Amino acid sequence: MRILSGIQPSGEPHVGNFFGAMRQHVELQAKGEAIYFLADYHSMTSIRDAGERRRFTHELALDYLACGIDPARAILYRQSDLPEVTELAWILSTVTPMGLLERAHSFKDKVAQGLAVHHGLFAYPVLMAADILIYNADIVPVGQDQKQHLEMTRDIAGSFNHCYGREVFKLPEPMILENVAVVPGTDGRKMSKSYDNTIRMFAPQGEIKKAVMGIVTDSTPVDQPKDTAAALFQLWSLFAKDDERAALFARAQAGGLGYGEVKKDLLARLLAYFAPQRERRAQWESRRADVEDVLADGARRARAIARPTLDAARDAAGLGPAR
Ligand code: ADP
Ligand code: TRP
Repeated sequence: MRILSGIQPSGEPHVGNFFGAMRQHVELQAKGEAIYFLADYHSMTSIRDAGERRRFTHELALDYLACGIDPARAILYRQSDLPEVTELAWILSTVTPMGLLERAHSFKDKVAQGLAVHHGLFAYPVLMAADILIYNADIVPVGQDQKQHLEMTRDIAGSFNHCYGREVFKLPEPMILENVAVVPGTDGRKMSKSYDNTIRMFAPQGEIKKAVMGIVTDSTPVDQPKDTAAALFQLWSLFAKDDERAALFARAQAGGLGYGEVKKDLLARLLAYFAPQRERRAQWESRRADVEDVLADGARRARAIARPTLDAARDAAGLGPAR
């Protein structure tokens, strides 16, 4: 079973990214041949600063290594180290109907927000299809927001196979990570960079403390029953066992439990939970050349899988000399 996923380098990860995506990626590496890439080509549709892109891409490699991606097992590489994917994106773009791309939610959202859209944003799903199809991936674990992109990938694969009369591409199965709960942010909305309500698990401890202590709570007095659906309790639950949760929720519902006590306990649990990852990250931070070695080795292994698929697509389409 081949598992593939890409992650955009877009700044420091938060607790929502970890429980919503990174943790599953780490777990999946034991279940098959996992390939994860740092989607720096895709980041060009939003980030315009070259230095920022380099830094974010490097930081994302550190984050993934820290969270437990094992380079001896999974392939971790930087998307732009395999320019083959852009060639395949061109080939696929010629069998992708305009109407398909015009229906993409992500593109329509950007237009609706009044952003100055460009061709890269419009063609984003074609590059994503190329990422996936070049490995003939079986399973693509992504969040709910990427579901339509995967459906488009299947359409594009079918369209190419049909057009050239060869089954060059396998239709991938989306693995929508929808059983993962949406992690609330410190203001109670979905935790997201764009809302400035995140708890960044690799931030200095003082900053994490400030974020946890700043979680918004209501003014229910200590002796009154508390609403356990509130962000504070949901966040706390991420770091507790089932029986611990049952016990704390019972105390909250009975009244007599103060928010301050829960915040302090959440902070302690969160720091303990992420201590191994923080330590691993600190070790990788001082080994820049080794990180580059991991990515170079990843690109080499990825190319060994990707190249034959690209060659088969080129051949089917009549590009290059006859084989
Ligand atoms: P952000 O909203 O902070 O910009 P991204 O859109 O870059 O986060 O998300 C990267 C990954 O993390 C996606 O797979 C997404 O589904 C997951 N993710 C982001 N925020 C959350 C959250 N609050 N709860 C669960 N998963 C999340
Ligand atoms: N579009 C994805 C996101 O924003 C990232 C991505 C790019 C990806 N290429 C991919 C995910 C291929 C899975 C497979 O989250």
